[in-house]
Amino acid sequence: MADPYYLTTPIYYVNDRPHIGHCYTTTVADVMARFQRLVRGQGAGGDVFFLTGTDEHADKVVTSATAKGHTPQDWCDRNAQAFREAFAFMGVSNDDFIRTTEARHKDRVPVYIEGLIKSGEIYKGEFTGWYDESAEEYVPEAAAREQQYKAKITGRPLLKRTEPCYFFRLSKYQQVLLDHITANPGFIQPDSRRQEVLGRLRQGLNDVPVSRPVTDDPATQWGIRVPGDPAHRVYVWIDALFNYLTVVDTPQRRRFWPADVHLIGKDILWFHAVIWPALLLALQKSGPDFGWVGLPRCVFGHGWWVSEGQKMSKTLGNFIDLEKLEAYAKWAPNKEKIPVGLDAVRWYLVTQGPLSGGDADFSHAKFVEVYNADLANGIGNCASRVGNMVEKYFGGVLPAQAPGSEVGDGFEWPSLVRAAWEKAAAGLEKFDLAAVLGAPVELIRHVDQYINATSPFKVAKTVETDPGAKERLAAILCNCAESVRVASVLASPAMPSKMGQLWKTWNCEPPAGATLADLCVFGGRHSLRAGQGIAKGEILFQRANAGDPLPGAAGD
Ligand code: MSP
Repeated sequence: MADPYYLTTPIYYVNDRPHIGHCYTTTVADVMARFQRLVRGQGAGGDVFFLTGTDEHADKVVTSATAKGHTPQDWCDRNAQAFREAFAFMGVSNDDFIRTTEARHKDRVPVYIEGLIKSGEIYKGEFTGWYDESAEEYVPEAAAREQQYKAKITGRPLLKRTEPCYFFRLSKYQQVLLDHITANPGFIQPDSRRQEVLGRLRQGLNDVPVSRPVTDDPATQWGIRVPGDPAHRVYVWIDALFNYLTVVDTPQRRRFWPADVHLIGKDILWFHAVIWPALLLALQKSGPDFGWVGLPRCVFGHGWWVSEGQKMSKTLGNFIDLEKLEAYAKWAPNKEKIPVGLDAVRWYLVTQGPLSGGDADFSHAKFVEVYNADLANGIGNCASRVGNMVEKYFGGVLPAQAPGSEVGDGFEWPSLVRAAWEKAAAGLEKFDLAAVLGAPVELIRHVDQYINATSPFKVAKTVETDPGAKERLAAILCNCAESVRVASVLASPAMPSKMGQLWKTWNCEPPAGATLADLCVFGGRHSLRAGQGIAKGEILFQRANAGDPLPGAAGD
């Protein structure tokens, strides 16, 4: 069996409604998971394990549930379902969905905490801070200073309060983490985020509280209790981080650990790149039961989406929620009223998103531009041109190609196709989806240039008079069709449904178990064959009129 591959997204606060931030990370992870399955030749998953889910023990859950007249669990059940549905809509192929209120998680977290307490990595100490009695919460030092040590709402003086609390010995791990991050450049990616963490780490580390007190207030009773000390509950962030472990902590799944990549947003980098690895190192040392717990291979922190050049906000009306993404998928900016489709939305998110660079701007004009350039005028148009010609000149049956005719007119198809695959494979290593998906776009551009250079429609006019013309026409169309096939394979993790549609009309669905490397060989074992049917099929992507507005999107 190939090496197991384990990929995670953050688990999302269940109090929120799904929006572009959640959908983006999870869709990027989906495209990566689909690529990894293809790389390993797994039709239905097998050795790739892709996890997403919801983070349900935040205090806010109790407040909102109470306000809406639900129990916290009932409120979580409803909202977790909204996330499941959002990801199903986005076409996400996760292998599991963890909810932190599930028994499999709630039962395991105390086991880890107990191990850490026994080994002294977590200890009971005292937390002292500025307490706002009216809001019933601690105010961090910086904020307290800013508020002149007065409560924000009531203006009453903040009280210095001390209470028992469990701490994790994070301070012990400064040097170990510095060494690990320095010796493993791929551990935190992209490099700008790695530098950010290194810089902050060098300033030193304090031990961190990992529990919150339980009082009469129902909000403080929601969460996982500290084993052996029910007056304390595990801090929601510590509870949440452990999800990556609890889900694979079964005899069948432990082989997936360590995770290959935790894909997250930049705002939660510190928790994932410092606190989480330190917790794992501490746990590993806590006893033989935890010997299997090593460090993840990579924490990848992407940037944020802004919208039309500004931070997303409900009041500005530029907020991109799930409904808006749905509206884009249904949008039909053409007189034929053919929707652009979900795959176009996935394509836009993963190729234009803030993966390794800075933040990215979701703009309507850019969506149309990318859709037209890459999809309608790109792979969609090219596939339909080629399918059309095979139908028109060869009755929809792929002709045989003369040996050696894969090279000519300034195009060497086997090497152009190989270069596309290499570019995609190199991009995959670096989690650079824009580069990976740029490979099929470039390959299609070559096919278009080739069609322009060889003018098959002119060649077709001479078949009656020129005895070599039919063979030449066959070679041109075979080169085009085979290259489009490879481009469609490379684009398929981002656009599984549209590429699946093309494969149906061209009879070239990759067989289960075929690897990406084999599928991307021009004329290889999975190539198109002489005599096979290639239908014209329906247009994959109808060109968008740039001027058409997006109708009726909620959030507008
Ligand atoms: N529950 C914690 C994560 C715990 S993981 C052990 C959490 N949840 S969240 O729902 O608030 O945010 C989840 C993710 O959404 C983060 O990775 C965050 O970066 C991402 N995004 C939120 N808004 C975003 C954008 N505008 N753009 C891109 N991603 C953004 O934090």
